[in-house]
Amino acid sequence: MNDRVIALILAAGAGTRMKSEKPKVIHEVLGTPLIQLAAGAAASAGADRIVAIVGHKSDIVTAALPAGVESVYQSDRTGTAKAVATAHQALADETGYLLVMYGDMPLLRPETLRQLCDVCHGKAMAVLTATVENPSGYGRILRDHDGAIIDIVEDKDAASEVLAIHEINTGIYCFALDGLFDRLGRIGNDNAQKEYYLTDMVKVCRAEGAEVTTLQLTDPAEGGGVNSRAQLAEANAVLQRRVNERWMNEGVTIVAPDLVWISPDCEIAPDTEILPMTTIAAKSHIASGAVIGPSTRIYGSTVGAGSVIEESVVRDSTVGENCTVGPRAYLRPGTVLCDGAKVGTSVEIKKSVIGPGSKVPHLSYIGDAELGGRVNVGAGSITCNYDGAAKHATVIGDDVFLGSNTMLVAPVTLGDGAVTGAGSTITDDVPADALALGRALQVNKEGWAKRKRKAHQEGIKNE
Ligand code: UD1
Ligand code: CA
Repeated sequence: MNDRVIALILAAGAGTRMKSEKPKVIHEVLGTPLIQLAAGAAASAGADRIVAIVGHKSDIVTAALPAGVESVYQSDRTGTAKAVATAHQALADETGYLLVMYGDMPLLRPETLRQLCDVCHGKAMAVLTATVENPSGYGRILRDHDGAIIDIVEDKDAASEVLAIHEINTGIYCFALDGLFDRLGRIGNDNAQKEYYLTDMVKVCRAEGAEVTTLQLTDPAEGGGVNSRAQLAEANAVLQRRVNERWMNEGVTIVAPDLVWISPDCEIAPDTEILPMTTIAAKSHIASGAVIGPSTRIYGSTVGAGSVIEESVVRDSTVGENCTVGPRAYLRPGTVLCDGAKVGTSVEIKKSVIGPGSKVPHLSYIGDAELGGRVNVGAGSITCNYDGAAKHATVIGDDVFLGSNTMLVAPVTLGDGAVTGAGSTITDDVPADALALGRALQVNKEGWAKRKRKAHQEGIKNE
C-alpha cells in the first residue's frame, strides 16, 4: 500500500511511576532516548511526517526529538483522545492515515506498524491488540460473535467478566484522517477517570457504520511499554537480544551477547567481532573485519575495516582502516585517524587528524593538532594547546619523529622530517628535516654520588 501516513507520537504524560525529574520518554534504552526509538520506528515504517504531542517538560522532550520530527504542545492533558485532537490544526490539510503511537513503547517493530497501516486501508480505524498472560491495567478488547471488535473497555471501568479477557489494547492505532477530528469531538469523558478516551473511537465509528478492524501482535513482547525502572531494564534486555541476534544473523561475532549493547541505529558489517562489555551507540558504523572491545564504548563514530579498538572510549570520531586503538585510549569529538594509524595505551586525542600510518603509542595528549603521515610520537609527548584562555593549533608534517616527552607549545608547526630530542619543550616552529632540542644541557659531576653516600654513612656512625 502506498497511502500517505502521518505518525503521531503521544508523549505529553508525566510518567510518574518512573519517579524521575526527567520526562519518561528521555530515559534511554540501548543508549537511545525512548522518544527517539519511537520516532525511528515510525520513520522505518515509512511515515511521511512525524509529529510528537508534548506537554510535561515539553522543552526537554522537544530538544530530544530527531531532526525533522515536529512537535505540538498539549496544554489540556485530559486523556488520549484530547492528545490526538491537539494535532487537529497541524494536520488540517492532511489526507491519508494517522498512525497513533506512544513515546514509551520501544519494542514495536516497524514492520508491525506498517502492517497496521496496511490493514487500516479503506477503513476508519485499526487497533493493534495483543493477547497477554496478565492483562491487568490495560484496556480490554470486546468482540461480537463473529469476532468483530465492538468496544475497548478500560481496566478501571471494567466489570469482572470483562476483566477476565486477555486480549488487550496496545494503545497503537491507525485512523483514516477523513472524518477523524469530527469523531474525536464526539468523545466524552463519562468514565471512571473523567478522561477523554481515544479507545471510545471504536464505538463512535461503529455508531456511524464506519469500519473498524484489528491486528493482533504475534509477538506480544512488542506491546510492552515502559512505565517503571524495572520495565526500562526489561525493555533494554529485550531490545538488546533482538539487535544482537540480528547482527549475529548477518555474520557478526558476538561471543557474549548479554554483555554487548548496540543501539538499533548503528550498522555493523559482517565478519566484525564485538567483545564483551562493549557499547556501540548513536549512529555508529563499524566496517568489516573490525574487532571492538572488550570494555569499549563507541558513540557517533565510524570505524574502518580491519581496525582493532580495545578497552577504549570513542566519541564522534572517524577511525580509518586497519587502525589500532587502545588499550585505554580516549578519542574525543573531532578525532580523525587515517588508515593504518595507531593510538596506544592511555592516549587522549581531541579534534585532531592523525595521518596515515602515524603512531601515538603511549601516554600522550594530542589536541587541536594535524599530524601528517608516518609520524612517530614518542611516549609521554603532548600538545600544550590551551593557554588558559584560547586553544591553539599544532601542525606536524610527514615523517616527523618526536622524542619521548616532547612538549609542543601551540601554536607551533614542525616541517616534514623534523626530529625533536627527548624531553624537549618546543615553543618555536621547526624547519623541515631539522633537529630541535629544547632542554637544559646535561652536566655530569664525577664522583659526586659516591662522596654523597659516604658522607651520609659517616653521619649515621657518629650518631
Ligand atoms: C491507554 C489506553 C488503554 C491501553 C493502554 C496501553 C486509553 C483511554 N487507554 O491506557 O486501553 O491498554 O494505553 O498502554 O487510551 N498521553 C498524552 N496526553 C494525554 C494523555 C495521555 O500525551 O492527555 C500519552 C501519555 O504520555 C502516554 C499515552 O498517552 O504515553 C497513554 O496514556 P495513559 O493515560 O497512560 O493511558 P493508559 O492508562 O496507559
Ligand atoms: Ca500508560
